[in-house]
Order: sequence, then C-alpha cells, then structure tokens
Amino acid sequence: MMEELALHIMDILQNSLAAGARKIELVINEDMDRDLLKVRVKDDGRGMTAKELKWVQDPFYTTKQGGKVGLGIPMFKWVAEHCDGYFSLDSSPGKGTVLEAAFGLSHIDRPPMGDLAGTLFALIVSNPEVRFVVKYEGKGEFLFDSKKVKDLLGDVPMSDANVLGFLRGYINENLRDVMKAE
Ligand SMILES: Nc1ncnc2c1ncn2[C@@H]1O[C@H](COP(=O)(O)OP(=O)(O)O)[C@@H](O)[C@H]1O
Ligand SMILES: [Mg+2]
Repeated sequence: MMEELALHIMDILQNSLAAGARKIELVINEDMDRDLLKVRVKDDGRGMTAKELKWVQDPFYTTKQGGKVGLGIPMFKWVAEHCDGYFSLDSSPGKGTVLEAAFGLSHIDRPPMGDLAGTLFALIVSNPEVRFVVKYEGKGEFLFDSKKVKDLLGDVPMSDANVLGFLRGYINENLRDVMKAE
C-alpha cells in the first residue's frame, strides 16, 4: 500500500493524462462535519465503457480484458473503503471520467497526504499543454488554474527557470496555508 495519498492522487492524475485529457480538475475537500477527506478528479479524456469500468475496479473478479492489469484504481478504492470512506468511478467513452474517493479524516489507517504540492508541481510543469484546475478546500481555499498561468506568461515557457522557481514556491506556500489535514 502506498504510504501517501499524494502518490495515489498522482497515479489517478497520470491515468487522466494517459487517457489524453486536455483538462483535468482536482478538488480536495476537508469535510470536518462528516470527518472525511474527499478527493475528486474529473477529466475530459477518452473515458471507459461500462465493461472497462467494472474491470478496472475489480481486476481479479472479472475476466481479463486482454490489457495489462493495473492496480492504481483498486488500491485507491481499497484504501478509501478501508478508512471508512467511499469510492466511485463514472465514465463515458469519448466524454471523460470522474473519480471520487473519500477517507475517514481521523481514521487511524488513513495515509497522510504527503507531498501534494511537490507532486502537483511536477505533473503541471511536465505537462504544460494540459489545463490543470486544482482546488483545495481546507482552512481556506486554494485555487490554481494552469491556463491562467499560461495566459499570464504569454511567450515565456513554463519551463523557464524563473517560472519554475516561482511556481514551486507559489503552490507550496499557498497549499500549505489552507491544509489542515496532514
Ligand atoms: N481517467 C481515465 N480515463 C480513461 N481510462 C482510464 C482512466 N483511469 C484509468 N483508466 C483505465 O483503467 C486502467 C487501469 O488503471 P490503473 O488501475 O490506474 O492501472 P494502470 O494505470 O497501471 O493501468 C488504465 O490502464 C486505463 O485503461
Ligand atoms: Mg494508473
């Protein structure tokens, strides 16, 4: 099992990238009232058929479809359900995919968030053509939209050393400010 939720989230975001998404939305919400840490990822990638959806969630219970069996989704689902949370995956071919997972915030087995800022930074700057919209609702709200950054930069590439340094610091500090959950 992965020790950090950030690594699970990275795997889910990489699935969206592999599915050819042009826009990926990540919303993380610390729901103190329900004692849940909720994660939602929405993409406009190629999506999955009903059969694929079933298979990717339970690769050991359904007939193999021919492709390789990945464990990113089943592990994330298992952790969520094991921590008094829930998991859902919705998709339609050609339209995109929505994944939702929740974890008991105070559940003893909930993995810590880990380095979410570093994970997001790496994914965003290595996929500058993809629009990442990130929202973290904790103590306050952190909102990031890579399209706004690109519009602001104009002809300056995201890989510019000064831009990288600024972005890393920006995401780090602002995310840290709103995160209550470890
Ligand atoms: N967002 C998505 N859009 C389209 N297909 C997806 C998406 N997420 C997962 N899949 C499909 O489910 C499979 C299993 O995903 P996962 O469990 O993360 O394992 P892996 O990424 O190692 O294949 C992927 O290979 C892909 O075919
Ligand atoms: Mg994966």
